[in-house]
Amino acid sequence: SDNKIYQASTTAPVNIAVVKYWGKRDAKLNLPTNSSVSVTLSQSDLRTHTTAACSAAFGPEDTLLLNSSPQDVSGARTQACFRELRALRSALESADPSLPKLSSLPLRIVSENNFPTAAGLASSAAGFAALVRAIANLYELPSSPTDLSRIARQGSGSACRSLFGGYVAWQMGSKEDGSDSVAVEVAPASHWPTMRALILVVSAEKKGVSSTSGMQITVATSELFQRRAEVVVPAHMKAMEKAILEKDFETFAKVTMMESNSFHATCLDTFPPIFYLNDVSRAAIRVVEDINKKAGKTIAAYTFDAGPNAVIYYEEENADAVAGTLKSALGELDGWQGREIKAQSTEGVDA
Ligand code: PMV
Repeated sequence: SDNKIYQASTTAPVNIAVVKYWGKRDAKLNLPTNSSVSVTLSQSDLRTHTTAACSAAFGPEDTLLLNSSPQDVSGARTQACFRELRALRSALESADPSLPKLSSLPLRIVSENNFPTAAGLASSAAGFAALVRAIANLYELPSSPTDLSRIARQGSGSACRSLFGGYVAWQMGSKEDGSDSVAVEVAPASHWPTMRALILVVSAEKKGVSSTSGMQITVATSELFQRRAEVVVPAHMKAMEKAILEKDFETFAKVTMMESNSFHATCLDTFPPIFYLNDVSRAAIRVVEDINKKAGKTIAAYTFDAGPNAVIYYEEENADAVAGTLKSALGELDGWQGREIKAQSTEGVDA
């Protein structure tokens, strides 16, 4: 009836998995073949800020601007998020006819990352988490973070874990409709405040094989994959959740590194093989091994997602031994971008 602009803003952090999601049992709903666990990075270092607005003055199409460039919102993933959120708003409007009919207004979404887009970091997790929560705030939905994780998961699987700060598990669930495939908190950020993460930017290029197609080829061709999903990951999930609850860094680190290795072994076992690690990635692994050998205990852990960039976890008290050694050792290597992003592991998340 009028041209009033309704709007709400939020931020969502980047998360880095320590037990990896790799494989979909349902590609449309982004239902995984195994559960996963991640550590949320601090929002002052890495986050997406998103404003969602709606108005009869907009449109007729929904729009999304990311770092000032228009994005295609017609893809099934984004559409699924819009549809689910509109349905929830529409139910509120039916129950209370005095509410403005926001569900039928065009959406205008504006997102900004506070980290360089060219850092080669998967930003879809923070991106979809922020998009979903910004619209949920705009629509004044009474949804919990776990409720919103169910929606964000349909945008990008790993996005479901960015609805929480701290240590987060994505439970794979068993239902066909995905209603139990959601993120839950393992421990809040404050539980382990000394955890740190260092991101070593090896390549700022976009990844060669997207996670969606990589997962599809792995599920279809890897013989290691089934063992990973059925035996390796369930054992790692149990050990990881216990290590987090007990703040047992040595076990946390060992499982993190074995998980990364298992995931990349599965990629290598995919036919044709997928190579995400490069020579610089492997050099970083060796430096971490040297650091741990020299310390006489495990004080650093590496992990790699679908690309060559390393994320190194360590505790604050070992900052010099870990971050210092890595920077000086890699500084001499060609192919390293010489860029690192230091992050507090965890911090609170905006409501
Ligand atoms: O959420 P996607 O589709 O970008 O897949 C993420 C896959 C990994 O980053 C490699 C692992 C993970 O659990 O985040």
